[in-house]
Amino acid sequence: MITKPTIDRIMEATDIVEVIGEFVQLKKRGANYVGLSPFANERTPSFTVSPAKGIFKDFSTGKGGSAVTFLMELEKFTYPEALKWLAKKYGIEIEETQMSPEDKAEDNRRESLMIVSGYAAKFFHESLLDTDEGQSIGLSYFRERGFTNETIKKFELGYSPDQWEAFSSSAIRNGYQEEFLVESGLSVKRDNGTLYDRYRGRVMFPIHSFTGRVIAFGGRTLKTDKAVPKYVNSPESEIYHKSNILYGLYFAKKSIRDEDNCYLVEGYADVLSVSQAGIENVVASSGTSLTVEQIKLISRFTKNITILYDGDAAGIKASLRGLDMILEQGLNVKVVSFPDGHDPDSYVRKVGTAAFKKHIEENRKDFILYKTTLLLKDAAGDPIKRADVIREVVESIAKIPDSIKASVFIKECSHIMQIDERALLSELNKMRMAKAKKDSQQQANQASRNQPQYDDVAPPDELMYMEEMQGAPADPKTAIIDAQEKEIVRLLLLYGNKMINWDGIANTYIGPFMMLELNDVEFDIAACKQFVEIYRQEMDNGVLPDEQHFIHYPDKAIVDLTVNLLATKYILSENWYEMHKILVSDEQANMKATILGAIFHLKMHKVGKILENLRNELQKPNSDADQDILLNQYMHLKKVEKSISDYLGSVILK
Ligand code: CTP
Ligand code: MN
Repeated sequence: MITKPTIDRIMEATDIVEVIGEFVQLKKRGANYVGLSPFANERTPSFTVSPAKGIFKDFSTGKGGSAVTFLMELEKFTYPEALKWLAKKYGIEIEETQMSPEDKAEDNRRESLMIVSGYAAKFFHESLLDTDEGQSIGLSYFRERGFTNETIKKFELGYSPDQWEAFSSSAIRNGYQEEFLVESGLSVKRDNGTLYDRYRGRVMFPIHSFTGRVIAFGGRTLKTDKAVPKYVNSPESEIYHKSNILYGLYFAKKSIRDEDNCYLVEGYADVLSVSQAGIENVVASSGTSLTVEQIKLISRFTKNITILYDGDAAGIKASLRGLDMILEQGLNVKVVSFPDGHDPDSYVRKVGTAAFKKHIEENRKDFILYKTTLLLKDAAGDPIKRADVIREVVESIAKIPDSIKASVFIKECSHIMQIDERALLSELNKMRMAKAKKDSQQQANQASRNQPQYDDVAPPDELMYMEEMQGAPADPKTAIIDAQEKEIVRLLLLYGNKMINWDGIANTYIGPFMMLELNDVEFDIAACKQFVEIYRQEMDNGVLPDEQHFIHYPDKAIVDLTVNLLATKYILSENWYEMHKILVSDEQANMKATILGAIFHLKMHKVGKILENLRNELQKPNSDADQDILLNQYMHLKKVEKSISDYLGSVILK
């Protein structure tokens, strides 16, 4: 874990306007900055950054938080990744502790592998640009393929000299450890223990992680000899898991988000050429069939994938089935194919950027419709084949989780296939039913593995419905509790470390005063409960936590709660300062009413709830003794309720 002092240093250095400004064009408006939401398509800016509070709030999606939260939301970083990004930006050294020795060793190993890979990328890049051999062989090859200097730099392309030990011996000389050279696959160990280079005489394509570090390589041979493998790639390692990496994603993600679409191609060269043509939202699966992890990676940024097919019709047909997986993940899939066995790289080089873009625009077809047309053409005149086609197409449609979308496809396909829509629908429903049955069986199996057998398993739809309900506001009583508990949190945030100076109560801070009054109150809303616990803990440590403490708290629920309370449009709007002045001048009277009102309204509600429970208990058959006890409790609480209500009525002028 990153140490607290390091986190503090990062937070101190972080200028939220500067960080967000790297991704969103911000304009100053009063004390705040506004811009267009990077999370939604909007025309009028609703995205607000408050430098004073160090928070942002996106009113069109409800997202909000600190600079760290922003990076997590936008770049899909984990918490430590976001911290590391900021540390790098502000030149802060990261200190980590509290790791078990094993974790630490593993972390060090991963870091060592990345460092070695980074060194190798630099070595190959420099060999390409600065050595005679690199220039005359590697660079001239890239030039021939039409890659510009800019592309070569951006993607850190390189050349591995055609010598046995050029890289390995340079790495050893520079102090890199043999262990990591071998594990990363950059070097291979001979029987006599010495190392030789794996990628001799190849041009090098470094593969970058999600956060931009080099984690692997693809090396292409320049020989035309069929016996030599065209590409040699890094082996799987602790830092490189082929199935969840997409080549080019690091450079493409911003554009994927902006364009709300991701182009998917097959090879390194395709990514480079398409990107160089100005279509930057392009990634490659690097020759393997797409995995669920890769699809999920894309779907963090967009729900739209456009596949730029390479190769012949046979190859395309073979890959069609794999695409159902994308539908299953709820993404929209379009496909574009290229004439005469061209791949995107060769086609863009042949026709140029403008014609390439035009080709994509004009030939972009929805995957299901494309598949239908393609298979139908094949089955022309063969009724049995035709029946298979229909089944296969409906099978794809059945994978689409959104049933409205699915029914639109059914309609269109019924048109293309000249089949009654109802026949397709009934086929679709049959498949859906079969799938639901299979899913619920799977769930039942899983449940029986974890728990004593369930008698009946709810069908998947019902389960989903229940999940949805949990997030929704339930009955009005819960809504009141929700509002009241959040009001307490809001007051603690805004005024907890301000002094009280009321008649009779002085020289104490509002926070401890409130906490004392709330000692006997149990919070119901999980985040509020946690908030109050944190507050109490910090008080026990002798600190009064302020809003910054909670804005930067490493728990999303707490940050969300805090920012939602601090960043209402009202508070962030400019006249808040005006408002605040009024509040300050009026504080004596108002503050007392506000604080005590919040505390006692909440108490009143809690007492009401206990009374209600007691009433229920009293109506059940009880022993006389129990009934007496319950009745006594009831009478006592009734008195408490009355006194709170009197107090609210008399003391609080609200
Ligand atoms: N690939 C691989 N190993 C091979 C062949 C291909 O790993 N022996 C992967 C590479 O990621 C390659 C992708 O599959 O980029 C697509 O293969 P191909 O179309 O043959 O390569 P291109 O990238 O198009 O290379 P080029 O245009 O230079 O022939
Ligand atoms: Mn190619």
